[in-house]
Amino acid sequence: MPDQYAVIGNPVAHSKSPLIHAAFARQTGQDLVYGRLLALEGAFVATVNAFRAGGGRGLNVTLPFKGEAVRFATVLSERARAAQAVNTLKFDGDVIFADNTDGVGLVNDLVRNLGCAITGRRILLLGAGGAARGVIEPLLQQQPAQLVLANRTLEKAQRLAQSFRGAFEAGTYAALAGRRFDLVINATSASLAGELPPLPPGIIAPGALAYDMMYGKGKTPFLAFARSEGAALLADGLGMLVEQAAESFFIWRGLRPDSAPVLTLLRRTLDA
Ligand code: ATR
Repeated sequence: MPDQYAVIGNPVAHSKSPLIHAAFARQTGQDLVYGRLLALEGAFVATVNAFRAGGGRGLNVTLPFKGEAVRFATVLSERARAAQAVNTLKFDGDVIFADNTDGVGLVNDLVRNLGCAITGRRILLLGAGGAARGVIEPLLQQQPAQLVLANRTLEKAQRLAQSFRGAFEAGTYAALAGRRFDLVINATSASLAGELPPLPPGIIAPGALAYDMMYGKGKTPFLAFARSEGAALLADGLGMLVEQAAESFFIWRGLRPDSAPVLTLLRRTLDA
């Protein structure tokens, strides 16, 4: 019987993870199956335990269970602790290892796929929710010249900065006026609603990359704004999705799949 993996969430039908991991397994010749696991509200732990009891080896965790999975772990990685969110579980006997590969997925997409160095650059991160929190630690590890986080609700940004012991600057959108950044990452959910955070003009440095963590939404208002402000390169979050999956696959199987052909495949299915 092949090893079993799945993505657990609610909803979960839309998840691209089964397609991505099936492609990784084919490419690397790994004998595994990867499915979808719908957990009802309040039934996360019971659903995971039933999956484990049936021989399940690992899970990806998506909304709304990323926080609950932190408490469920017996061993928590440093990056999952910093993110206060888990997207990857690995089961080994009684041990439940929990990690978060979202941030490293973003960094790998930026550095390897998009050729955008983070080290020594001025980085602006928009948003102070779970999506932003999940990528802060891996971004800081790259030692940017600056990491500035801006959010509509100032207190939320400040609380987040405090929980990282002030390792980055936090402020409002208005306070960005007069500053310039080499990389601007949109981790707000504004694009979902077709909205744009109230960014002042002039914050995009010449040659900058604008990155929207959202995907499948075409050119979001954020990317359109960045283009009109002179950004040299625009990217959506599809590469991050594939790279976080590649890192999960590595945690489970000890092998690094080649993400490029899988990203191409996914892009094609999204555009179709
Ligand atoms: P997620 O886990 O996806 O980050 P979240 O925790 O609900 O979701 O956070 C959503 C983020 O998007 C927040 O930073 C939110 O700003 P507030 O903290 O001020 O609410 C931000 N956001 C959502 N819609 C926005 C909009 N139209 N303009 C600016 N920011 C927006």
